Amino acid sequence: MSSEQIVYLNGELLPLDEAKVPVLDRGFIFGDGIYEVVPVYGGRVFRWPHHHARLERSLKKIGIDNPMTADEWTRLVQDLIARHPWTDQFVYLHITRGVAKRDHAFPKGVAPTVFAMSSPLTLPTQAVREAGIDVITLPDVRWLHCDIKSISLLGNVLARQAAADAGALECIQFRDGFMTEGSSSNIWIVRGGQVFGAVPDNRILEGIRVGLMDELCRDAGLALTLRPILREEVLAADEVMVTSATKEILPVARIDGKPVGTGRPGPVYAALYAAYQRAKARHD
Ligand code: PDD
Repeated sequence: MSSEQIVYLNGELLPLDEAKVPVLDRGFIFGDGIYEVVPVYGGRVFRWPHHHARLERSLKKIGIDNPMTADEWTRLVQDLIARHPWTDQFVYLHITRGVAKRDHAFPKGVAPTVFAMSSPLTLPTQAVREAGIDVITLPDVRWLHCDIKSISLLGNVLARQAAADAGALECIQFRDGFMTEGSSSNIWIVRGGQVFGAVPDNRILEGIRVGLMDELCRDAGLALTLRPILREEVLAADEVMVTSATKEILPVARIDGKPVGTGRPGPVYAALYAAYQRAKARHD
């Protein structure tokens, strides 16, 4: 499949196998860059203005001048999607500080590296959504700028691997006794029919589905509160869910092997999943 995949690198569209980056790229050397993951449904980008705005925020937070205008980003994303036959895709955008002699301080006068690719989006199967997923709990040992969608993902990679080693799909991380997020998703709990999520501060990535959750809850007639959430509240929740661009919304069946609520996906998940599908159908 990779030979058919056309990617973008520094102004050029070319086959994935031909896209090469110099080893002194600061993304390779330091993980010095940021990224985005944008879902595409039926050939149309979902929540693109939100993803574009977060990309701009991430660039600003690490002091990289945005190498492209909003229109240029939009065109690039559309060109990439149009090159591929898949109805549902996800676009990966990646910007690093560029290629320079190895020195931790920012280089001067160096152009950022811009890489983008689109891949088929394989959504979780109905069987997975009906069974719910396993997650494990972990201490959050990452840095304190998790709000930046940084390509330096070692903490997230190790957390995800710990989950995989335990036969789980995701983890729930805790810092100082409070829930933060998964390795690559945001976490939601349900208590007494209300939905709760962590406050999007420097300790978590503000997923595009955090803003979306507000709309989904309104659509489904549910109350949503973002506030600090204790580990004990998570373990005692009626329902727990994860959200991300590639998972949409998934119910958690077990945490550390113990059932969440009844151990089956609950009614709040069902209502939010239905609201998600309505939002997708509206293409907004
Ligand atoms: N990850 N938190 C982290 C640490 C993430 O990496 C992600 C997304 C999210 C959810 O954000 P959104 O709703 O915008 O997808 C939260 C992407 C999908 C990834 O790294 O592949």
